[in-house]
Amino acid sequence: MEKTFLMVKPDGVQRGLIGEILSRFERKGLKLVAAKFMQITPELAERHYAEHVGKPFYPPLVEFVTSGPVFAMVWEGDNVIALSRALIGKTNAIDAAPGTIRSDYAVHTNFNVIHGSDSVSSAEREIGIFFAPSEVLEYERTLQRWI
Ligand code: TYD
Ligand code: MG
Repeated sequence: MEKTFLMVKPDGVQRGLIGEILSRFERKGLKLVAAKFMQITPELAERHYAEHVGKPFYPPLVEFVTSGPVFAMVWEGDNVIALSRALIGKTNAIDAAPGTIRSDYAVHTNFNVIHGSDSVSSAEREIGIFFAPSEVLEYERTLQRWI
């Protein structure tokens, strides 16, 4: 089953949006398999955002994402990576479709509330950075057959 890494960024935590964001993925029918409220170190931020090293927005991005606690999660489901990106919306809130998380809650590209993996390889990489294998749970949901 496909898995993705999602993370409520420090702006989402500060604004009290963890529950709102979590509930969108729950109501969609996706399955939560890991979660952690944590502080990202600069070293962890550098690993997570390695693909963006050298870009002009990289230094402020690392400063932002380490500025306060984040809520890191792993979600599971058919096509969960693409489905999550669809619920999250485009990177820039101006381009994000109405009803998406970034359209509903973000104003600026650099404070866009949530991260979501963009491919199978990045999901595997990011899950491995944030979670030990034993923290990603396997369990049955009684309503699984309806989703
Ligand atoms: P990116 O991986 O391109 O976006 P996404 O989060 O949609 O996968 O960029 C990572 C984060 O970097 C993005 O969420 C916010 C920040 N960022 C900026 O601050 N300015 C920018 O111009 C871009 C492209 C990203
Ligand atoms: Mg990205």
